[in-house]
Amino acid sequence: AAMAILKDFEEKCATPIGKLKQVADAMNVEMHAGLASEGGSKLKMLITYVDNLPTGNEKGLFYALDLGGTNFRVLRVQLGGEDAGIINQEFAELSIPPDRMVGTSDGLFDYIAAELAKFVAKEGQDFQLPPGRQRELGFTFSFPVLQSSIDSGTLIRWTKGFSIDDAVGQDVVAELTRAMEKQGLDMRVSALVNDTVGTLAGGRYSNKDVVAAVILGTGTNAAYVERAHTIPKWHGLLPKSGEMVINMEWGNFRSSHLPLTDYDNSLDAESLNPGDQIFEKIISGMYLGEIVRRVLCRLAEEAFLFGDTVPPKLKAPFILRTPHMSAMHHDTSADLKVVGDKLKDILEISNSSLKVRKVVVQLCNIVATRGARLSAAGILGILKKMGRDTFKDGEKQRTVIALDGGLYEHYAEYSKCMENTLAELLGEKVSESIIIEHSNDGSGIGAALLAASHSQYLGVEE
Ligand code: BG6
Ligand code: GLC
Repeated sequence: AAMAILKDFEEKCATPIGKLKQVADAMNVEMHAGLASEGGSKLKMLITYVDNLPTGNEKGLFYALDLGGTNFRVLRVQLGGEDAGIINQEFAELSIPPDRMVGTSDGLFDYIAAELAKFVAKEGQDFQLPPGRQRELGFTFSFPVLQSSIDSGTLIRWTKGFSIDDAVGQDVVAELTRAMEKQGLDMRVSALVNDTVGTLAGGRYSNKDVVAAVILGTGTNAAYVERAHTIPKWHGLLPKSGEMVINMEWGNFRSSHLPLTDYDNSLDAESLNPGDQIFEKIISGMYLGEIVRRVLCRLAEEAFLFGDTVPPKLKAPFILRTPHMSAMHHDTSADLKVVGDKLKDILEISNSSLKVRKVVVQLCNIVATRGARLSAAGILGILKKMGRDTFKDGEKQRTVIALDGGLYEHYAEYSKCMENTLAELLGEKVSESIIIEHSNDGSGIGAALLAASHSQYLGVEE
């Protein structure tokens, strides 16, 4: 019976190349629709007001605050200018207390401003600004925001594990600024960016060929460089560069071509944001382990995978995290010892047989493979939109995509599968010119770089 359930699940999760191409085409169509008008698509295709990416000339002392991944980070960088790169950099990494993720806007912003104030208070004499100058900050806020300038924007809605009603519709820069003032911290937010945009900016700083960025972490999303005159909903002046970075918010992509199962539908229905972020819910780190848990639950209830009773821990939502799943999936020991240990430590299932452990690994593989292959299809959708999915004779254009996020970084089977699938989708010739580059914490640095290029002191002599 267990094998039948598993087999059925595997069939429903199948992502043959033909289906992936349909997903990529659907992504491309939705990208057009989202650019055409506000609310034209599930894909928000948000205008970021970033019309210039870092050049290497950025100079001075800047800060960044990175909120929205697993951890919350504060960063200080000293930029050398004229391709001198980063002279000095220091960061602090903290976790957000879970109650701050679902409380009030003040609760969250007071907490991050207090941590920022502590970070600044600790710095020595080496990090002084010229007299009379205000510190400047790039704020990476990894949620959908409707921006009205590079340094303002209102929260459209929360995603991932956050849910703070009174913050929705508020200008997150104003909220942060108020909280910083309460701390007596004189700092100006000069750039508000999504993590994908920060990663794109950080990626471009180290590699001129970077034109898109993808996050595969707690959540998932992508940003890319669009030609401004092809954005019907943009009514502002055409930027000099002719370009505009778009934050796709692809986590909210949805299509009839997505292989969704009953497990996905119930996960969605019981989530903090039912109906939203369907693509994210089958691809990203916050959810993969939970999908595995749901299938295991069914296997326990209907096929008695773990004996006569359902292990009580198995019923706890989100108890099985994606890092646990990844550890089990990568277990190469003959007796699948890691799987046995995880089942015992996390789910209190002791003495699991080798047969049961094999079922668990197989399940991890099904769920990770579906997610990884769909993310590759999403990337193909972007390449299509950019016209970089085909081989043009004589043209030797390199396309680099900056990738970041815990899932990509730590779940090797997943990243490998994503990259192989992308190569398969593109074919040998094209895939030679498409490069995926890990941009480690590029988003914090990227935000600081964008703060630098939007500094209020630009052009002012020191
Ligand atoms: C980090 C970026 O490396 O990846 C963050 O600096 C981003 O801005 C994060 O949000 C996403 O990864 P995770 O796994 O922490 O959600
Ligand atoms: C979620 C957020 C998005 C972010 C992504 C990755 O999808 O809505 O803004 O970029 O997670 O962190």
